[in-house]
Amino acid sequence: MGLFIVCLVFVSCGDSHNWTKNQKQGKRIYEALCDRCHNLIDPTEHTDAEWAKAVPRYGTKLKLKNNEIAWVVDYLSAANDKTK
Ligand code: HEC
Repeated sequence: MGLFIVCLVFVSCGDSHNWTKNQKQGKRIYEALCDRCHNLIDPTEHTDAEWAKAVPRYGTKLKLKNNEIAWVVDYLSAANDKTK
């Protein structure tokens, strides 16, 4: 019983996704910067391929580095729950 409660608390406190370190960094960048010119777009609105094109397009406007762009794409393509 004790263990059951601990698990429940753990699940409800944490983000339901197990983001990798890179995805967490991408999420932070996305949420901090990609709402400058428009509302944040829900990750599920675009496919992996669309995100892979959009993030470099707008990321360069934000002067993101290549690795930061890769983190954001990594996060969005994990968050959209789609592969194509
Ligand atoms: C400098 C302003 C600016 C920033 C910063 C910006 N965007 Fe945009 N974004 C736009 C404009 C303007 C449009 C709509 C016109 C167009 O397609 O260029 C747009 C459209 C989009 C679209 C396609 C339209 C849609 O509703 O799905 C996506 C996807 C997108 N942005 C993603 C991003 C992401 C990801 C970032 C962060 C890396 C970002 N944007 C940051 C200006 C910006």
